[in-house]
Amino acid sequence: MNGEALRSVDLRKTYESRGAPRVEALRGVSMEVHRGERVALLGRNGAGKTTFLKIASTLLRPSSGSVEVFGVDVTRAPEKARPYIAVVPQEGKPFFHLTPREQVYTYLRARGFARETAKSRTQDALARMGLDGFADRLSITLSGGQRQRTMVATVIATEAPLLFLDEPTIGMDPFARREVWSSLRDLTQKGSTILLTTHYLDEAEVLSHRLYIVESGVVLSSGTAEELKRSVGGTLKVFIAEGAAQVERFRSFGTCVTDGLSLTVIVNPARLAEVMEVVERSEMTATVGPVTLEEAFLRAVGRSINED
Ligand SMILES: Nc1ncnc2c1ncn2[C@@H]1O[C@H](COP(=O)(O)OP(=O)(O)OP(=O)(O)O)[C@@H](O)[C@H]1O
Ligand SMILES: [Mg+2]
Repeated sequence: MNGEALRSVDLRKTYESRGAPRVEALRGVSMEVHRGERVALLGRNGAGKTTFLKIASTLLRPSSGSVEVFGVDVTRAPEKARPYIAVVPQEGKPFFHLTPREQVYTYLRARGFARETAKSRTQDALARMGLDGFADRLSITLSGGQRQRTMVATVIATEAPLLFLDEPTIGMDPFARREVWSSLRDLTQKGSTILLTTHYLDEAEVLSHRLYIVESGVVLSSGTAEELKRSVGGTLKVFIAEGAAQVERFRSFGTCVTDGLSLTVIVNPARLAEVMEVVERSEMTATVGPVTLEEAFLRAVGRSINED
């Protein structure tokens, strides 16, 4: 294996179907994922995340530009790239006529693992995803979250060098999500690289080393969660339930965002005491919390929507 785990250069994809307007899903996406990294793609519905993952995992051809996986061009040599990658597709479903154990085992065998290895890895992956009690039931009888866990188990069992996971924790309960997070962390510790998408920004924040925010097929910004949060202009948010009417009294402290009756003021810790003084003098109440990736995302994407 050579080069970066993944490198895309000016990747473009236009969907064209007869009688329907063209859709420019990707309009020049360049990014890289270093070996051993966990990287998240964030973006609104329709931003182009799944299109990117499909091209990178050899399931779709780009209109132009390139993606290399460990130095292999995925469009020119898909059959060489495929052994390096494993994919949890968006809205994928396990085979309904197989049990989770059969599904994971069969997939590992198809990828060329010896019987014993396939058997023990299947057992481990099912246990990690909390599927012990359901491993021998037909997948058609499983709940939505149990099916999704089966999909993730199938892919983590491969320990492939590069894993693509498109909304892997959709529909999972908070405990199951945390199991996925720790499994993905363990995999990168063993040397795998991970590119995932998620709409859960808390998940993106705890899980990824770096993030790319995509909007309308272009990368808006990228960096660590800390770097992206810094762009918000403060590290604390003060939420004042009925503060919208008093917004003028807070403008000098930081960015003010009103939403209906409420007001959120983004501030740095040094100015918090002053803000709270004004809150008290105005006989209002406020709650204080850290700025999260959600604010960074809303700001980056919101600004881009307004510019359009
Ligand atoms: N096969 C297709 N034919 C035509 N247009 C498509 C096709 N697949 C996707 N699109 C369009 O391309 C754009 C990007 O879609 P994509 O599925 O990549 O978005 P996404 O970022 O994964 O969104 P979501 O968060 O909803 O999963 C959207 O406008 C979508 O409607
Ligand atoms: Mg998608």
